[in-house]
Amino acid sequence: MAVQINPSILSADFARLADEAKAVDGADWLHVDVMDNHFVPNLTLGVPVVESLARATDTPLDCHLMIEAPDRWAPQYVEAGASSVTFHVEAAAAPVRLAREIRAKGARASMALRPATPIEPYEDLLPELDMLLIMTVEPGFGGQAFLDIMLPKIRRTRELISKHGLELWLQVDGGVSASTIEQCAEAGADVFVAGSAVYGAEDPAEAVRALRAQAEA
Ligand code: DX5
Ligand code: ZN
Repeated sequence: MAVQINPSILSADFARLADEAKAVDGADWLHVDVMDNHFVPNLTLGVPVVESLARATDTPLDCHLMIEAPDRWAPQYVEAGASSVTFHVEAAAAPVRLAREIRAKGARASMALRPATPIEPYEDLLPELDMLLIMTVEPGFGGQAFLDIMLPKIRRTRELISKHGLELWLQVDGGVSASTIEQCAEAGADVFVAGSAVYGAEDPAEAVRALRAQAEA
């Protein structure tokens, strides 16, 4: 289970996104939070910014869509250059069809669960996905405190992945930092999103290296 660290540009300077992408040299992916002020009470960026960012960096983009109607929008993020697209199951009308469409367009398909959404009803969908995202805060804002009540869900999800013999990546997002990443790794997560813990650090690239070392320990 290879550890991957995905800095979230939500905590970066939006006026300098190309430079901020370079500041986390060594990161596996750049995590791009798309918010529509409907699915979550915050508004960030859309397709044109993803298109520009994809041209400005060689680091693959991991787009996390916190939006209504992902069935309509997710394919456009693949076309814009995202290598992985995550939709929220709470917002998707047809998650299986959507995951297949994302894959057919050539990106990794990923599904996210809000903290109150259980994994068990979706066990049969896991083979359709390349990654599952377990939110460890209520989506919408960076810098929130890690919800450690999500650790059992991470553990149960890792067990389901193993039971089915799947290659699925298990991502955690929200409050991941030097003080919480080890618990997440121990519970079975292998892809770690970190916004404030990376971009709030004096040396973001060093913060990525330190988080990786902790998760691998
Ligand atoms: C929150 C976003 C996160 C956010 C995490 O809804 O999905 O990706 O950037 O920020 P931190 O790591 O500061 O909790
Ligand atoms: Zn996110």
